[in-house]
Amino acid sequence: MTQTIGILTSGGDTPGLNAAIRGVGKACQTHYGMHVIGFRDGFRGLMENRTMALDGDILSGILTLGGTILGTSRDKPHKMPVNGKVMDMTETIVANYHANQLDCLVCLGGGGTQKNALRLKQAGLNIVTLPKTIDNDVALTETTFGFDTALGIATDAIDRLHSTAHSHHRIIVVEIMGHRAGWLALGAGISGGADVILIPEIPYDVTSVADAIKARKRKGKPFSIVAVAEGALSQEEFAAQQVAAAKKKEKKPKEPEPELVYAERTLKLARQLELLTGLEARPTILGHLQRGGTPSAADRLLATRLGTAAADLIAAGQFGYMVAARGETSLPVPLDEVAGQVKIVPPDHPWVASARGVGTSFGD
Ligand code: F6P
Repeated sequence: MTQTIGILTSGGDTPGLNAAIRGVGKACQTHYGMHVIGFRDGFRGLMENRTMALDGDILSGILTLGGTILGTSRDKPHKMPVNGKVMDMTETIVANYHANQLDCLVCLGGGGTQKNALRLKQAGLNIVTLPKTIDNDVALTETTFGFDTALGIATDAIDRLHSTAHSHHRIIVVEIMGHRAGWLALGAGISGGADVILIPEIPYDVTSVADAIKARKRKGKPFSIVAVAEGALSQEEFAAQQVAAAKKKEKKPKEPEPELVYAERTLKLARQLELLTGLEARPTILGHLQRGGTPSAADRLLATRLGTAAADLIAAGQFGYMVAARGETSLPVPLDEVAGQVKIVPPDHPWVASARGVGTSFGD
């Protein structure tokens, strides 16, 4: 009997999602003779049973497209706003899975998606996931698709900011995405030659950042690029956050409205650096630019590799796994081990050591 596979994309969009949809879909259809359908807008579309046929020519011509042809959302099966109330819609999702006679659901997403996918596995569904996010913070995979493209965009931005910082003898504080992980800021900071890199994993002392900038000025370089991860914290902010988290131990601290909080911190840092160095400072927030447009060749390759590996896994009847990137190959890792884990930058990571090796300050 022909097997039917469902695909959805969930969480923030990422370059390479369409390449992955194509990889899974084409391998399932042409190699294994499976029937493939898409669900629109993540778990919400599955809950509302909004489908999209993925047969015929629809998977052709999407390899190079940014975004996701399926649409996405951050909705969670067990906490979904419906008619003004937040409801557990897991049962409806399970019912729609069976109504569509699915043999497996493939969920393409980041850390949040892995957790939601595990819940659906626990509700009895056959699930396979792929790791996507520009943040590169999914556990147990070497990398995630979307990261390489965002790295290229953020590096290009730093390159461009260099010439204007140089011409005006200014500090440019460039805020780079990554949520609570510093991979993107660290990678782009190294590749773009930022003078200071600030990441959440290494709380900074603003006077130490200012000292690094003043030392450059003394050496005849009265301009600096500060690459700050959106989740980076000063040592005071970090300590305050620890205290607040300890106080709310029983109750998980409410997720802040991220972008505004991040932007406020970046503006504050730029102002502090002006005062401490006597140089003009300008903030630049790269924001969603980093998620837009054509995926890089490396992301297309990774998404295709992982997508076709997902099809092989399904054909072998193996469910409950995330297809992780391991060197030149891929490895199925149990969802139970991935979900709820965040891969952050170890402060002694080789990238950090390399950056320090070329004289980059981490403000610590
Ligand atoms: O997880 C990807 C990401 O771009 C983060 O880097 C960022 O903090 C967040 O999503 C932004 O979310 P949204 O697109 O919902 O504003």
